[in-house]
Amino acid sequence: MSRFAHPAGDRHAEVLPEERPPHVPADLNALDHVIWPRTSGRTGGAITIGGVDVRDLAKEYGTPLYVIDEEDFRSRCRDHKAAFHDGEVHYAGKAFLCREVARWIDQEGLGLDVCSAGELAVALSVGFPPERITMHGNNKSLAELEKAVEVGVGHIVVDSYEEIARLGFLADRHGTRPKVMIRVTVGVEAHTHEFIATAHDDQKFGLSLSSGAAAEAVRRILALPQLELVGLHSHIGSQITDTAGFEVAARRLAGLLVQIKEEHGIVLPELDLGGGYGIPYVTGDEAPDIKVIADGLTEIVAKVCTSAGLPVPRLTVEPGRAITGPAGVTLYEVGTVKDVEGLRTYVSVDGGMSDNIRTALYGADYTAVLASRETDAEPMLSRLVGKHCESGDMIVRDLWLPADLAPGDMIAVAATGAYCRSLANNYNYLPKPAVVAVSRGKARVIVRRETEDDLLRGQL
Ligand code: LLP
Repeated sequence: MSRFAHPAGDRHAEVLPEERPPHVPADLNALDHVIWPRTSGRTGGAITIGGVDVRDLAKEYGTPLYVIDEEDFRSRCRDHKAAFHDGEVHYAGKAFLCREVARWIDQEGLGLDVCSAGELAVALSVGFPPERITMHGNNKSLAELEKAVEVGVGHIVVDSYEEIARLGFLADRHGTRPKVMIRVTVGVEAHTHEFIATAHDDQKFGLSLSSGAAAEAVRRILALPQLELVGLHSHIGSQITDTAGFEVAARRLAGLLVQIKEEHGIVLPELDLGGGYGIPYVTGDEAPDIKVIADGLTEIVAKVCTSAGLPVPRLTVEPGRAITGPAGVTLYEVGTVKDVEGLRTYVSVDGGMSDNIRTALYGADYTAVLASRETDAEPMLSRLVGKHCESGDMIVRDLWLPADLAPGDMIAVAATGAYCRSLANNYNYLPKPAVVAVSRGKARVIVRRETEDDLLRGQL
């Protein structure tokens, strides 16, 4: 039976991906500390996070459950702030934003990036200072732009010619002079999934450097004295683990800064290199050191600008995943364990692609373990799947789980803090899980679980 199969031997050769076969853990109980939250461990067999036993969390709040390690989240804010000490760190709210997270970001002294009126409303609802907010988006509506202008967000990153005209109109109407940056498509092919690479020319974001659209945007903004052009922005993609792409982006942006100086006689004081720093999801993944990245980026920007005869601009970065990703863990309860003879064991849990669509959408990899107890059972080749009516509903495509796994056991999936709750959906009318923050032995709900009433609200 595949449930009791050993990794050795050839019977699994055809069922495992050749390119990236899953790592067979030497110890199925171990938690790889570069992947799991900083305060996690095992006490009395079960996983604890922030000093709280996951069995208690499940009992109190139910499953599936998003758990966020507050100390981990806050410490990564501080790590980024310290690493980019001469620049600005803006947390990219799209990775995961709720009112409590906006408070943490504020308390830790970071700026915040939003890309919709909804994200802006979350931030404003807890009194997040608007001047530390940057508004993004490739198709911001007039209403969204108006709100941003009205409340006085610190920066608006312009993404199209239409938006320049709209902003000019709104600035006039409100008698303000918003600070704007231009999102430049620098033509860098980031080594990441196609859907999350964003600076090659053939996509919807930004204004192209090579076609001259970015330079034309500069002209159009400078023709409107009610807009204050303060800098250039680029975001080359997400889950990037080296600085090579950022280096090319910085060089190209510096080239445009020079062109702007020559053509218009002005020096723009700010450069925003976006976010995109990768995190380890499975053992063996690179775990980039933010200090190394920060030193690399700071040095690159200083070097390219100095050699172009420009003063060094103020550098802003916009990490999302690298701050909240490792802080999050999703807890599930096992419902069925189905051995598909000769192939693998399908372990079905009580959530799935509604709470984590990244596996289905990007072929993402995750680490998952038996969370509610320790085991000395053999590894069994498994697929961790959800309860949705779709065979692509996988949380972890290939992994080794203990062969004594049984209904009622709890599974924890690591590094789900970014782009899981924020991409959550109600497919098959599943209510979205709660988000619980844990810290120093205490847990509290920061986003409550949806109910059936929530699902029915708004319908005739
Ligand atoms: N700044 C801008 C302008 C962005 O568009 C993004 C992400 C970030 C910063 C933050 O990137 P991060 O540091 O989190 O990589 N849903 C995908 C990721 C989409 C990223 C979109 N933009 C995923 O689940 O992998």
